[in-house]
Amino acid sequence: MRMYDIIKKKRDGGELTTAEINYFIGGVTDGSIPDYQISALCMAIYFRGMTDRETCDLTFAVRDSGEKVDFSAVHGIRVDKHSTGGVGDKTSLVVAPIVASYGIKVAKMSGRGLGHTGGTVDKLEAIDGFRTTLSDAEFIEQVNRIGLAIVGQSKQFAPADKKLYALRDVTATVDSMPLIAASIMGKKLAADDDCIVLDVKTGSGSFMKTVDESRELARIMVDIGKNAGKKMVALITNMDRPLGYAIGNSLEVIEAVETLRGKGPDDLTGVCITLAAHMLSLAGKGTPDECEALARKAIVDGSALNKLIETVKAQGGDPKLIEHTEGFAKAKYSHAFKSRVSGYIRRADAEAYGLASLALGAGRNKVEDAIDYSAGIVLKKKTGDYVHEGEDIAVLYSNSQSSFEAAEERLLSATEISDAAPEKEPLIYDIIK
Ligand code: URA
Repeated sequence: MRMYDIIKKKRDGGELTTAEINYFIGGVTDGSIPDYQISALCMAIYFRGMTDRETCDLTFAVRDSGEKVDFSAVHGIRVDKHSTGGVGDKTSLVVAPIVASYGIKVAKMSGRGLGHTGGTVDKLEAIDGFRTTLSDAEFIEQVNRIGLAIVGQSKQFAPADKKLYALRDVTATVDSMPLIAASIMGKKLAADDDCIVLDVKTGSGSFMKTVDESRELARIMVDIGKNAGKKMVALITNMDRPLGYAIGNSLEVIEAVETLRGKGPDDLTGVCITLAAHMLSLAGKGTPDECEALARKAIVDGSALNKLIETVKAQGGDPKLIEHTEGFAKAKYSHAFKSRVSGYIRRADAEAYGLASLALGAGRNKVEDAIDYSAGIVLKKKTGDYVHEGEDIAVLYSNSQSSFEAAEERLLSATEISDAAPEKEPLIYDIIK
């Protein structure tokens, strides 16, 4: 088999065989296929797409490209949720403790932020001492003991995806439906949970910009998961605007804790309750409606917050930071982004807010970049709110004063203000089962 022939076949609109897809992923994993041929095939897939069968084969090949954690020693049903990536998306920090507080096992392997989107691992590392690397034995012991552990993915975990993602990121081939589906589901299936709830974001801050595209991506991923014997649900949720008010690592941990105290923003709370309800429901705790009541109860009675504190403690983090979030290190500088006019905020483009936060130091341009955990943005107004001339739309935080100008410029062009209030958009567009 020759990589040249595989690239040519896909370039000309052909359907790749299972053997050809396995040959490709095998060569990505062992380094025998050069980057330029991997990139060329990604571009051909970007333009020509893949059938459901090809996408499923690609996913299974990614899943099988590395080592798997042996979860046979975990007692009970394991449930996970995965977001396709967004801005201000701190839902895992809220949802995982809610679900674990009901005795369901959440053995979470999360990612880091890249580009305008944030990652759960970076947020957790904003908590002093929190270890996102555990040995397999520690990971499993903690899941059995307290029901929840959250770690980063190791190098040996679905390594084909690491290589592919790095190349897609620099060859403008990230936003390809089959490549996204195989990347996300390859990793999810390698983690081998029993039930998976997908949060497929839609809108400017996500990889899928329209509801129809997001629905299609969700359908493909749900079908792949079911094919692999998993219980699956996907929610299509709004990512046209940042979720909640906080963007940036420690700022998002603080907002997640507020949400677990029952004082979170309505949009974040709504998405978290629905995600948690579907996770609990797949795990056999009742109908989604019954489980919604359970999710709310875990917030009201404090059991979800206690579960987060227990998890932080177990992974070496300072639990006092969760109990008293004012203890998080603050950025040296802050800067108010003020409205130049009066009117309704019609649009606060999520991608641009994510990029502004990155410019402040909260994210990374390259995988090896360091992060400023205290940097980010706190919105004072959201889409649909009325703002007066001179009033704060957002406050920016950074340890680098010189970053404010570029960040504010982004926010200025990303924030539309007009006399007419915008139509209210749904928070959850659809649920795909
Ligand atoms: N998240 C992933 O893990 N992979 C993608 O391709 C896109 C989002």
